[in-house]
Amino acid sequence: MSNATTVIHSIPADPLTGAIAVPIYQTSTFVQEAPGVNKGFDYARTNNPTRETLEKIVASLEHGAGASAFASGLAAIDAVVKLLQSGDEILAVNDIYGGAFRLFTQIYAKFGIRVNYVDTTDLSQVTAGITPATRMIWLESPTNPTLKISDIAAIAAIAHRNNLLLCVDNTFASPALQRPIDLGADLVVHSATKYLGGHSDLIAGIVVSKTAALAEQIRFVQNASGAILAPHDSWLVIRGVETLHLRMERHSKSALEVARFLQTHPAVDRVYYPGLRSHHNHEVARQQQSAFGGVVSFTLKDDTAAAAKQVVCNTQYFKLAESLGGVKSLLCHPATMTHKSIPDETRRASGVADSLIRLSIGLEEVADLVGDIAQALDSLTAATETASQTENIHF
Ligand SMILES: Cc1ncc(COP(=O)(O)O)c(C=O)c1O
Repeated sequence: MSNATTVIHSIPADPLTGAIAVPIYQTSTFVQEAPGVNKGFDYARTNNPTRETLEKIVASLEHGAGASAFASGLAAIDAVVKLLQSGDEILAVNDIYGGAFRLFTQIYAKFGIRVNYVDTTDLSQVTAGITPATRMIWLESPTNPTLKISDIAAIAAIAHRNNLLLCVDNTFASPALQRPIDLGADLVVHSATKYLGGHSDLIAGIVVSKTAALAEQIRFVQNASGAILAPHDSWLVIRGVETLHLRMERHSKSALEVARFLQTHPAVDRVYYPGLRSHHNHEVARQQQSAFGGVVSFTLKDDTAAAAKQVVCNTQYFKLAESLGGVKSLLCHPATMTHKSIPDETRRASGVADSLIRLSIGLEEVADLVGDIAQALDSLTAATETASQTENIHF
């Protein structure tokens, strides 16, 4: 984990008043002494002191040269794609977040940007997937929702040998557990809606750039396209970042316990969590992350959407909702919720089975969470037994 003291003290007291909390500059414009003579701010789409403070904090957390904050994680992804031109290609991880898939296929395909999806956990597929038109490699690590781990340093080396940019979606690990720029990435994106914000109370996104030149290009897109983060939401993310380290430590500890429990339950087929020794790239995760994060996914032996529905509708503490990374535990059924925009066959091929359930482990007592998921899984076993008894009576 990075140093909590450094993080907490990277959040400055207000230089004007000494306020220990960052002030919310809720303003659209700034008074100028003469045209072009101002205090560094002229119009709040271009820049805002509260947003700028957040951008500096996240840039320093990620060890980048600069950052830009956006109205959502998808707006942040959109800004990165706008660095490309018609005819360019992206090589992307194949179980990419469904919203990114939708943006790439339904918006950017129209403008001539193609995406080639490969299993980036296999380096030979990354090398083989590069074409003369490839300009960027797009990773999520861990991925949403199957927690695939890609070797960021090895893929950065491949990208740079081929003159490509590497962009890593670091939403699931957060900079408290993993810093892709230190591993060679050029750009890092976040859905700050998740762990950076941390309280399920806002939608936000951030792009962090390794170099000042890239940061400037992203800042240009931010101002030109205008999908900026509002001052109050910027403040909420700053407030979330203050406790990021503490939360990530607890999320990770509890998630490992839940994952270990799931491995023992007879109704569960596969458990996906990078902290388990059985995880395909556990060793890579150990090298590039300091802990394994708060998301655990699993499939059922009865691999049907109906069985998954029975589980997700029968928990007490895990609330059925899209999103993750908050204080309260959530669960969702990706096939019919977050990943419904991906065609069934493509979804299954990338490992998102019909019964896959994604858990976002919150900050409750872990024993309560294990008990809750246990009773929901037991209800599934009970329902199966009742059904087979009914069948026996029938025949
Ligand atoms: C990995 C990942 N990236 C990006 C996004 C998009 O972020 P937002 O919902 O803030 O637009 C999400 C949303 O779930 C996500 O899980």
